[in-house]
Amino acid sequence: MREGERLRVTVRNELPEGTTIHWHGVPVPNPMDGVPGLTQDPIAPGESFVYDFVADPAGSYLYHSHVGLQIDRGLIGALVIEEREPEAAYDREHSLVLDDYLSQVPGPLEGRGLTMGPTRGPMGGMRGMMGGRMMGAQVPPYVGLLANGKLPGDPPVFETRRGERVRLRISNPSGATTFRVAVAGHRMSVTHADGRPVVPVAVDALHVGMGERYDVILESDNPGAWPIMAAPLEVTASPAEAIFRYADSASTRPEAGAVPDGIRGGRVLELHDLRSTQGLDVLSPDRRFDLSLSGGMMSSDWTINGRAYPGAGALDIHEGEVVRFRMVNHSMMLHPMHLHGHFFRVGRALKDTVIVPPHMGRVTFDFVADNPGRWFFHCHNIYHLEAGMAREIRYV
Ligand code: C2O
Ligand code: CU
Repeated sequence: MREGERLRVTVRNELPEGTTIHWHGVPVPNPMDGVPGLTQDPIAPGESFVYDFVADPAGSYLYHSHVGLQIDRGLIGALVIEEREPEAAYDREHSLVLDDYLSQVPGPLEGRGLTMGPTRGPMGGMRGMMGGRMMGAQVPPYVGLLANGKLPGDPPVFETRRGERVRLRISNPSGATTFRVAVAGHRMSVTHADGRPVVPVAVDALHVGMGERYDVILESDNPGAWPIMAAPLEVTASPAEAIFRYADSASTRPEAGAVPDGIRGGRVLELHDLRSTQGLDVLSPDRRFDLSLSGGMMSSDWTINGRAYPGAGALDIHEGEVVRFRMVNHSMMLHPMHLHGHFFRVGRALKDTVIVPPHMGRVTFDFVADNPGRWFFHCHNIYHLEAGMAREIRYV
């Protein structure tokens, strides 16, 4: 899409169960947001629903089903809204969509007690490891990690030519995997976080949580065929892989065993590196919420302030207020927390999804209540979402 164009999508549901589409990150009018039970009824089998909104502002977004665990059946995609004026800042662009692949019907995870992830599968098994310790919760039995729908044996190829600036739009609509992404032979200059422009920052690696997007520029100054890898952060498994290939390069594949330096070391993007290119004025909050994230040990619920959605009341706000969310993570897993319908300010950047690190990690964000309706706020690990880590934000 181009910024300012009207997007009109008719969804005809040919599934045997209800579904919706959510336009992740786009601040659409509330009735177009695709959240079952909040903004619409699920589209019943055989029925249709029309989503209709103006594509604005430009940026890298996602679209996906917002019903149950349908994300882990592949109902995901990248949504790109191009700048109104084509940017001179790059010569070509590619999209890298990261995913985790389940070969069976997804179901809720048994979270009680200290259990481990499954230990079999083509990847040699994904084990729930973190900092060398076993996590107190299962991970889904994924059989592989995907780049643009491809397993590492059949990687997508992103072409370039010497001297070109390539815009790589990296997104993670996966069910339950956070990735560390790096490109061999090249630094990444991060230009956008969740679609919002930032002052460029050069890094060797970045962490992309479920629901997050980063746009980076690669300077094509190192001919060859280079691996782009996305290694999972919380489990042990083979990375998703793509190839960054110069058109005139003799090799079509990277050397066997080549791994980008940024997978194991180098400079990793930190949240405080992100600085919006828009001058953000100072906000002082009119309303605050302290939100404690927990779960995974003794219970199969994942909760906010001890309560699992939908068995928890809405967080009420008023139009025009500046609202502050202060989150602290009491659990051993990270949580990519996503707010619908708004961009929030975290540090000096604008985002719509932010990773709250495990083991007492803290993140605070502010947003301006400027888009009335009933909005969802939740962890974008779909298993945590299904197990209750969500709240309704309600304008009253
Ligand atoms: Cu991708 Cu409720 O969101
Ligand atoms: Cu979570």
